[in-house]
Amino acid sequence: MHDELYPVPEATAKAALIDNDKYLAMYQQSIDDPNAFWAEHGKRIDWIKPYSKVKNTSYDYHNVSIKWFEDGTLNVAANCIDRHLETRGDQTAIIWEGDDPADDEHITFRQLHERVSRLANAFKDNGVKKGDRVTIYLPMIPEAAYAMLACARIGAVHSIVFGGFSPDSLANRIEDCRSSFIITADEGLRGGRKVPLKANTDKAIEVAARDGAVVDKVIVVKRTGGDVTMKDGRDVWYHEAVAAASPDCPPEEMSAEDPLFILYTSGSTGKPKGVMHTTGGYLVYAAMTHEYVFDYQDAEVYWCTADVGWVTGHSYIVYGPLANGATTLMFEGVPNYPSPSRFWEVVDKHKVSIFYTAPTAIRALMGAGEDYVKKTDRSSLRILGSVGEPINPEAWIWYYDVVGEKRCPIVDTWWQTETGGILITPLPGATALKPGSATRPFFGIQPQIVDAEGKELEGATEGNLVIADSWPGQMRTVYGDHERFVQTYFSTYKGKYFTGDGCRRDADGYYWITGRVDDVINVSGHRMGTAEVESALVAHPKVSEAAVVGYPHSLKGQGIYAYVTLMEGEEPSEELQKELVKWVRNEIGPIASPDLIQFAPGLPKTRSGKIMRRILRKIAEDAFENLGDTSTLADPGVVDDLIENRQNRA
Ligand code: WTA
Repeated sequence: MHDELYPVPEATAKAALIDNDKYLAMYQQSIDDPNAFWAEHGKRIDWIKPYSKVKNTSYDYHNVSIKWFEDGTLNVAANCIDRHLETRGDQTAIIWEGDDPADDEHITFRQLHERVSRLANAFKDNGVKKGDRVTIYLPMIPEAAYAMLACARIGAVHSIVFGGFSPDSLANRIEDCRSSFIITADEGLRGGRKVPLKANTDKAIEVAARDGAVVDKVIVVKRTGGDVTMKDGRDVWYHEAVAAASPDCPPEEMSAEDPLFILYTSGSTGKPKGVMHTTGGYLVYAAMTHEYVFDYQDAEVYWCTADVGWVTGHSYIVYGPLANGATTLMFEGVPNYPSPSRFWEVVDKHKVSIFYTAPTAIRALMGAGEDYVKKTDRSSLRILGSVGEPINPEAWIWYYDVVGEKRCPIVDTWWQTETGGILITPLPGATALKPGSATRPFFGIQPQIVDAEGKELEGATEGNLVIADSWPGQMRTVYGDHERFVQTYFSTYKGKYFTGDGCRRDADGYYWITGRVDDVINVSGHRMGTAEVESALVAHPKVSEAAVVGYPHSLKGQGIYAYVTLMEGEEPSEELQKELVKWVRNEIGPIASPDLIQFAPGLPKTRSGKIMRRILRKIAEDAFENLGDTSTLADPGVVDDLIENRQNRA
C-alpha cells in the first residue's frame, strides 16, 4: 500500500485558486450551512428569474425528493454560450481534433452560438418541442456538442447513446424514454475504423417499432460520406436542415427542476436505468467542480478524453467547461492511433494545460513504453486527472513521473453517472496526494462508511460508501420509475444514498475506493451490469444458463468472465465460445464482450436454487483456497469441476 504523501508542487501552490486552509474553511461552511453555501455559489451561473429557495431535499425512504433552486429559472445553453459572447465571442470554445491527425477545427463561442441556434431551430422545424426526448447517437464530432446544447436551448431532453452500443441497446433506450427524434451520423470514425451508425439506427428503429415506439425524424450528419439509405419523410440531412433554419433562436426559459438529460447506466439488476438530471443544480455543480477540481484558469486549454456517450463527457467536456467559458478539446480518436504518442502529440499541438483521462488508457500507454511519451514536449501540462475506476498505484506513479514529470498534480476524481459531478477528489492547490486515493470530499459532500447493517463506522475503517445528504448535481429520479430510484439508492441503508462502492478511509481521513460491491463490473472504466451480459447470453438458442462475474485484468481493470451451461445435447467447442462472444457484441456492444467463457455442466447453487456468485467470483479470481462456506451448496461436486476447467486469464 502506498501511503507516501506527494505534497502540492510549489508552482501549483503559487498559482492555484484554493489552498488547504481555504478548502477546509469552505468545506466546513458547506456542511454547517448548505443553504447559505449554495445560495452563494448558485450565483456563478446566470438566472433569468433568481431563486429564493435553495435546498429542498429528503432522503427519507418513504418520501425521497430532491430539489435545488426550485423557484429559479434559467437556460443551460445561454449559460454555456450566450453569456460569454460579449467578453469572449472570438475565443475558441471547442477545439476539435479528428481521428486523423490532419483534421482539426477551432470553434469560437460566436460560431458555437450560430451553429447551436440553427440546429435548435432545425429541431423545432422537424417537430421537436419542449420536454420531448431526443436521442443522440453520434461520434465525437462537434455536432454532438451542438446537439446537446440545441436540446438545452429549446428545453428538449437529450438521451445520448454511446456510439459503441448495438442496435438492440439503442432500441431499448429509444423505447424506454419514448424518444421520437434521433440525431446520428452516416458513420463514425475511430482509430481508422468505420462504425455504421446510420445502419445501426435503421435497425434499432425497426426493433423499437415492435414494441410500438415510433421514431418520427432522424437527422443525419455526413461524417465520412459513406453509403446510407435515407428514408423519405423520416430521414433528413443535417447540413440541409441547418442551412434552411434561422440562426436566431431565443433560449427557452426553463425551471431549475426541468429535466436536462437522461443517461442510461447499468445497475446490478435488470435493464439499464435512465438516470435523470435536471437543469439548475446540475449546471451549478458541474461548473463549480470543473473550475475547482481542475483549477481551471482563464484562457487555458482543457482536455477530457472521455466520450460524450458517458457522463464524464456530459459534465466535463460540454456543460462544466462551457459554463465556465473554458476552451474544451474534443477528440474523435483513440489513444494509440496512429501511434501510442497520440495523446501527447495532441497535448503539444494544442498546448493543453489540463488533461483528464481514465486509468485503462494510462495502463495501455504505460505498456507501450515511455519512449512514446518522452519524445513529446508536454511542457504545457499543468494538471492531470483520472476517472472511471480505481487507479492502481503503479499506473498513478507512471502518470505522475513520466507524463507529468513530477510537476503536475493528479486529481483522482471519484463520482458516478448518478452524482452528476465529482464528489471525492483532491484539489490541485490544496491536497497532498497519495497514489490510488481519491482523497477528500468536495464541498457539500458528506461521505460515510457503513457496515453491512448500515451502522456508521468511525475513523480509519473499511466498508460500504454512502453519502449522508444531497448536493445540487445529484440525479433526481430514474426516468419513468421513481420507485426504482428509491429502491436502488435509498433502500439498502435507509436515509442515505448508497453508492454501490466499497471504500476504505485511512488515518488521515483520505478515502480509497475499493470497487463495486454489487453486481456491476467496471471494464476499461465502462460500467456493465453482469445481469445484462447474462441475459444476452441466455438469449442464445444453445445456452441454457449463464453467470457472469468480473476478474482482475491487467489492462481493463476488470475483465468479463462468463460461466455458461449449454442446452441438453449441445457440445462445448472453441467455435461456440467465439460465437457467443460475437453474439454478446451484437446484443449489447463491443464493450460487453466476454474475455473468458467457461462451459460448465452445472453452476453452484444453494438448495433454494440461487446461484452462489461469491464462489464464481473466487474461482475467476484464482482464489480457490478461500472459497468460503460451501456447505449450503445443493451439489458441492460442481465446484471441483469448475476449478478443474477454469479458463486462464488473458
Ligand atoms: C467507479 C463515471 C475509483 C466507481 C464517472 C463508480 C471510480 C463507477 C472512480 C461509476 C475513481 C469512478 N476511483 N472508482 N476515481 N471514478 N469509479 O457511472 O465504481 O460510469 O461507482 O461514472 O465507476 O461509473 P460511471
